[in-house]
Amino acid sequence: MCGIVGYVGKRQALPVLMDGLRRMEYRGYDSAGIAVMDDADLRVAKSVGKVRALADSLVDTTVAGTLGIAHTRWATHGVPSEANAHPHVSCDGKVALVHNGIIENYAELRAELTAAGHAFASETDTETLAHLVEHLMRFPGVTLADAVRSAVRRVRGTFGLAVVSTDYPNEIIVARLGSPIVIGVGEGEYLVASDPNAIIGHTRSMIFLDDGEMAVLNRDGYRVVSLENLPVAKHPENIDWSAEDAQKNGHAHFMMKEMSEQPEVLRNTMRGRIDFDAGNAVLGGLRDVADRTREIDRLIIVGCGSAYYAAQVGEYMLEEYAGIPVEVELASEFRYRKPIITPRTAVIAVSQSGETADTLAAIREAKMKGALTLGIINAVGSTIARETDAGIYNHAGPEIGVASTKAFLSQATVFALLTMFLGRQRQMSVTTGRRISEELARIPDLVASLLARQDEYKAIADKYAWADDFLYLGRKYCAPLAYEGALKLKEVSYVHAEGYAAGEMKHGPIALVDETMPSIVICPVDSVYEKTKSCIEELRARRGKVIAITTEGNHELDNLADDVIFIPKTLEMLTPILAAIPLQAFAYHAAVRRGFDPDMPRNLAKSVTVE
Ligand code: AGP
Repeated sequence: MCGIVGYVGKRQALPVLMDGLRRMEYRGYDSAGIAVMDDADLRVAKSVGKVRALADSLVDTTVAGTLGIAHTRWATHGVPSEANAHPHVSCDGKVALVHNGIIENYAELRAELTAAGHAFASETDTETLAHLVEHLMRFPGVTLADAVRSAVRRVRGTFGLAVVSTDYPNEIIVARLGSPIVIGVGEGEYLVASDPNAIIGHTRSMIFLDDGEMAVLNRDGYRVVSLENLPVAKHPENIDWSAEDAQKNGHAHFMMKEMSEQPEVLRNTMRGRIDFDAGNAVLGGLRDVADRTREIDRLIIVGCGSAYYAAQVGEYMLEEYAGIPVEVELASEFRYRKPIITPRTAVIAVSQSGETADTLAAIREAKMKGALTLGIINAVGSTIARETDAGIYNHAGPEIGVASTKAFLSQATVFALLTMFLGRQRQMSVTTGRRISEELARIPDLVASLLARQDEYKAIADKYAWADDFLYLGRKYCAPLAYEGALKLKEVSYVHAEGYAAGEMKHGPIALVDETMPSIVICPVDSVYEKTKSCIEELRARRGKVIAITTEGNHELDNLADDVIFIPKTLEMLTPILAAIPLQAFAYHAAVRRGFDPDMPRNLAKSVTVE
């Protein structure tokens, strides 16, 4: 995610800002920038790429001043570029602003400000805030703090932001709604950051803003108020985390941190993208190709690893609810086949990194043959994102852990949104669209309730620590989950695991089953429940141990399986999103128990940019 750092005090600001940016590099970013106030002169510098590049650009210049803000950007709107990097500056050059979060209504704000004469220099949602603050400050008596407070009250979405102005050269204004902001209380100096790790080297005394709060920092102190300008009493906390811990927000590994982020990730993935009344998805990234998506008569989805399995979940959704023929292909195979592609074929690339070589090659092949190419990509501005005709960004934030967790969940959620979008262009009724929309809105909280049960998943992983081989079984929407769950266990714990469609058991794999080969069976109460339950009975008849995942309230498996994990009831098409949580956790706890680092599994890279 993006990173914010700010400083006001007696020392030169630049070294503090650059140190803070470096301490946030682990979060993943694609550009960086600083704004330093020297008396009433504001110096802004930005660069694409690493913080090193920003530092190199400042080597031959003097950036003096004891107040400043800085930012590392993980692109969500607008490709990684110097123009899109933060800080964003107002037309008159007096206001500089850095922002974490997503402004859903930025298009309407931008149109309003453009009509009022403001000129925009970037494609970002954030820049609208800089111009809005400037616009509001032109009224007599409106202070910087007043303008920021009024500006953020116009925002729909999330923000953690820091703002400075040459009209108020001794102040930093910060505000928070949905994206963390922490204030560091030093000796005669005050700092601000989106992540304690950025400033923990200067102070351990920190104040965590809550949603709907803002603060004014200056050389003499700080004051915290609500967005209604009512004073808020806040007391500094002493942070005893190590710098390393702070990077993981106190979690032992990035994998667990990213698993824990999943409720918020799904909210960000869906933010501004569901029209509940119309029972439809609002996918701005497909706006320019909506006429073509209405005409497509075949979908091919390509991806690798977890992205491929998310695509398989999407296949069931799209066929059942959008009525479009779908094929899901391993990108590494598709690129060498001779696919039959017509102008009414759409090829969708699913990729967290947007740089996977096989997926990129597959998309290039599809494009050469005239397909409409779409991307479901997390990394904004990545190669696949740039080479597809259009697409949908995940807004999942950077995924540091090699094993895909939040990205997979976000991909499956995007497929639900895409299913609504394409379905409502075809035969899907508003009633069905509303039902899916309403159920999607429940999913983040249901995911949170599942994530809270780590002790349960750990206990089961410990109970089966003896096993060297596992079968994962599922049917229909849960068959891809069997493959994904097996992949998770393999790649972080190095335990052999095979994912199979449950109906395949009798066609060979059941020969493996005895008391030494446990199976994880994803068996929710869905349209194929009885069939999958029979599979459990066949496993038990061969002394196979069974860990079953089923729907809350269903106790038919209590005496059939050795262990049962219950997941909340939801639409069959959304069940894979919930069933993935215990599967991720089982793999994580298995790896940790074996003494492995789940963040950096042996032999694996986060993005496979070579064949
Ligand atoms: C999944 O846990 C693995 N890290 C891997 O299979 C990954 O999903 C695959 O390499 C695809 O990566 P991408 O989504 O960045 O294209």
